[in-house]
Amino acid sequence: MADLSIDLGFLKLRNPVLAASGTFGYGLEFAPFIDLERLGGIVVKGLYFYARPGNPPPRLAESPSGLINSIGLQGIGVKAFSQEILPRLAGLRTAVIVNVCGSTNEEYAQVIDYLDRQEGIAAYELNISCPNVEQDGLCPALSPEATHAIVRLAKRTSRRPVITKLSPNVTDIVCIAKAAEEAGSDAVSLINTVLAMAVDVETRRPRLANVFGGLSGPAIKPIALRLVYQAASRLKIPVIGLGGIMSGRDALEFLIAGAMAVEVGTANLVDPEASIRIIQEMEDWCEEKKIKKLKDIIGTLNVASP
Ligand SMILES: Cc1cc2nc3c(=O)[nH]c(=O)nc-3n(C[C@H](O)[C@H](O)[C@H](O)COP(=O)(O)O)c2cc1C
Repeated sequence: MADLSIDLGFLKLRNPVLAASGTFGYGLEFAPFIDLERLGGIVVKGLYFYARPGNPPPRLAESPSGLINSIGLQGIGVKAFSQEILPRLAGLRTAVIVNVCGSTNEEYAQVIDYLDRQEGIAAYELNISCPNVEQDGLCPALSPEATHAIVRLAKRTSRRPVITKLSPNVTDIVCIAKAAEEAGSDAVSLINTVLAMAVDVETRRPRLANVFGGLSGPAIKPIALRLVYQAASRLKIPVIGLGGIMSGRDALEFLIAGAMAVEVGTANLVDPEASIRIIQEMEDWCEEKKIKKLKDIIGTLNVASP
């Protein structure tokens, strides 16, 4: 059997497949369907310091090969997570990564400071696609300066590794990714959802109460792959790729383009066993190609003209 393990430097993973934030609840919801310990890791739903109800419905709209969501980062807050969920996750032999949110830079630090006092967390993933009061409601992921400021604060606060999750809604991903790297981020993950909207022709109303939402699923995979390739080509820190991964072959595309690990998001909503199937398909591919170590294919994209 092929060795699927991956060493991110700050974290060793059994295999490169993580469940993506917001599509896998707090992890335990999937325990009836899959063996959570077969995953490389779980990135839990984004947490602000306090509980939040999210946006009003309707907040999901399907589109061809995609899903537009405007959930609005509904969550239970750090205290309930630490008391009710984390003790049960902490016993699992898989990496638990907490997706950290904030309306201000200070709130990111508060969330990390609180969680730093808990056991059972392998790393933080900074969700810098949250509307930020200090950025006039824009998300920090859109600006290199704002990204740098949040990552630096998070790194100064945290006793754990920090992964910065980047947005695709920018003109130059490399300058944002480099800002995260320069501020001390241990890795970057990309992409978050692509800003989108949908219209109901009969009512002439937006299909989401929030008007705008984030597009995910197979429709965004080519965009994600391009951004991951651009970031991985220019960074020294590991890149974690996501966006529309539905199969083992999709995941392999990201690894070949330079990602050291991948996250599976919307696929979990279609099939709760998707992440396990994806791991199996990657393993079968290695077997078929007689590849002993999956890590050997990372960044092997051949762009030379034939
Ligand atoms: C319903 C839903 C909720 C999400 N919630 C979060 C979240 O809390 N934090 C976050 O960083 N990303 C969140 N995301 C973005 C996903 O983690 C992922 O970046 C995106 O969906 C692209 O991957 P995919 O095409 O595999 O779903 C959410 C996505 C969906 C569909």
